[in-house]
Amino acid sequence: MKKICMLLQKAKLALILSLFFAIAATSPPAVTLRIAAEPHHILLGSAAASSFLTETEYANILGSEFSQLQAENEMKFGIIHPRPDSDPQPYDFRGGDALVAFAQAHNMAVRGHTLVWHNRLSPWVKDGSYSSPQLSQILHGHIDTVMKHYASKVYAWDVVNEAFNDDGTMRHTIWYDQPGIGSGAGTAYLEQVFRWARVADPTAKLFYNDYDAEEINTKSDAIYAMAKDFKKRGVPLDGIGFQTHITLKFDDPEKLKSYAQNLQRFADLGLELHMTELDIRLTDSSPASLAEQAKLYGEITSLCILQPHCKLLQTWGFTDKHSWIPAFYKGLGWALLWDEGYRKKPAYAAMREALLK
Ligand code: XIL
Repeated sequence: MKKICMLLQKAKLALILSLFFAIAATSPPAVTLRIAAEPHHILLGSAAASSFLTETEYANILGSEFSQLQAENEMKFGIIHPRPDSDPQPYDFRGGDALVAFAQAHNMAVRGHTLVWHNRLSPWVKDGSYSSPQLSQILHGHIDTVMKHYASKVYAWDVVNEAFNDDGTMRHTIWYDQPGIGSGAGTAYLEQVFRWARVADPTAKLFYNDYDAEEINTKSDAIYAMAKDFKKRGVPLDGIGFQTHITLKFDDPEKLKSYAQNLQRFADLGLELHMTELDIRLTDSSPASLAEQAKLYGEITSLCILQPHCKLLQTWGFTDKHSWIPAFYKGLGWALLWDEGYRKKPAYAAMREALLK
């Protein structure tokens, strides 16, 4: 009798356990960032690199938490156009194509970055001693080829990246100084590249992207003047990207207010607004610093939610394991939403909470 009772008990336990696991298996999936952002009509993006896609945790998080990706480096000139046009194979689309394939498999949008920039250029361009008309032709061909390759796959491009100095003057770059359409002619060369881009892929949204232009300041004033002029004259510009590489100093009501007002003046021009490269670098990873960082992530998220023209909230990577910060800012780091071991940080919860409000 005792034996039968024990057997019955065991069977009961087994039944309860199997019921529990069955319920757990069918319970709805967690509300990820991308799902939380949907009701706001905001895409949740991350910069990504194809070489990390083989890391299971990397691929799982990227494919489930984000609704957009952008190549951190693999669509930049130096990588995508490594050889001169005289070479039988001037372009290398492998990295970019791998990212596009991943995005398509995970129902994610792809944003292109970047066509006209002074950094990450190929040595053959930088050291080629080309004449101005030749450089102009190289840039035109580059924009045309890359945009056509990704037409209908990349919905928006940072056509121009970082063309202004902090004091609002034009940055001296190989493109501004030499093609003969730049120097002394202000934003004329930017107008030219936006026109080329529109022809290359008429369906892509065309963006100007820059850093330290989040607040109203001399740099954002210069970008605003350009945008206003372009809109008035029908130059094809669809949006502005605000990189938003910031520190805890940004957690200041005046700065946050200035960011909101800045977004509003660009919105009033009818432009789409993207936060393109958000990260918040820290000097240490103490609980207090992580808590402050979380608060600021929440505040920046709310800025985008409250601005109807803000359609993208994108972080510059998502794990501290692969963030660009330690290599570029000595002693700083811990800038993203997941830590080096792919554990969610307080910043993740804060961003999600702001989206779910
Ligand atoms: C950075 C990448 O994160 C690094 O991996 C690379 O070595 C240099 O470029 N603004 C931009 C981005 O527009 O393209 C930069 O990305 C970061 C600053």
